[in-house]
Amino acid sequence: MNRLRGVGCLLLVLAGCGSTDPPMTTFAPKSDFAEWIHSLYLQVIGWDSLIFVIVAVTTLLALFRYSTRVQAEGEAPPVSHEYLALEIAWTVGPALVLLAIAIPTVRTTFHAQPAIAPENALEVKVTAHQWWWQVQYPDLEITTANEIHLPVGQPVHLRLASDDVIHSFWVPQLGGKRDVIPGHTNAITLIPRVPGVYLGQCAEFCGLSHANMRFRVFVDTPEQFNAWSTQQTAPAAVPGRPATAATPIAAGARLYASSLCVTCHTIDGVSTQRVGPDLTHFASRTTLAGGILDNTPEHLAAWLRDPPEVKPGARMPNLGLSPQEISQLVAYLESLK
Ligand code: CUA
Repeated sequence: MNRLRGVGCLLLVLAGCGSTDPPMTTFAPKSDFAEWIHSLYLQVIGWDSLIFVIVAVTTLLALFRYSTRVQAEGEAPPVSHEYLALEIAWTVGPALVLLAIAIPTVRTTFHAQPAIAPENALEVKVTAHQWWWQVQYPDLEITTANEIHLPVGQPVHLRLASDDVIHSFWVPQLGGKRDVIPGHTNAITLIPRVPGVYLGQCAEFCGLSHANMRFRVFVDTPEQFNAWSTQQTAPAAVPGRPATAATPIAAGARLYASSLCVTCHTIDGVSTQRVGPDLTHFASRTTLAGGILDNTPEHLAAWLRDPPEVKPGARMPNLGLSPQEISQLVAYLESLK
């Protein structure tokens, strides 16, 4: 049984290695913020290792030298009450080590929390909800969900707010964690250094689907970012209510506009509620349901069939849609590039 369990664990580990997702690691920093934290980590590990070596070596020395001597002579070693030099050494030594750790720690803390963002910083407002992330670019008038696009090399000022409970914003390769607190806006300023896709995850237990509260950060080249923002600010691909067309897309659009969907979601020109994610450019996103599923027609159909089944505790209820209604809504939503 134990051997079986061992094999099971090994398989799990190997499955982790074989994953095609980008790594969620703090050891491959891709922003200035993440680099500072990584460098601080290496410094602390260096000091810790030095202390470990000193303690281990002196312990072993004492063990071997004095235990044999006591055995040989058959008596306890002499008792000494004072050894001034030694006492000064083990007070001053650790104090210096603590100082050596404290200085870069405090410096990194202040460095990572600038009082004001740089002039040319891109403003991004991230609002945490149970269990998804709303992403807004006030200057660009873009609202999206669970996916943050950032241009490489430009400072970004992320303003982090919560709509309900305490969450934590964490993109291991770009920085964080930073608590996202109701009633108080926290901020992160960073410069993404390398284009790529970086996985993020809520890092503060926030309820049933805490583990399903994921997101992605796309660090784009300036051209990619401009193309993305142009697409996001363009009108929704499909007008709200193509009254008469008999296509599944048009049927889906009519269904959306006349169903409960509009009481929670925004699609520009159709509905304006912000309880759930903005769906105006839903099909341009790579994931759905709090970043846990790739955005495919099959996954969207499974989601619409029974959201809490896919993401336990999901605020979106099972609407009791028929298979035909689901396929019409999928056709419509997947057309919203
Ligand atoms: Cu949000 Cu955990």
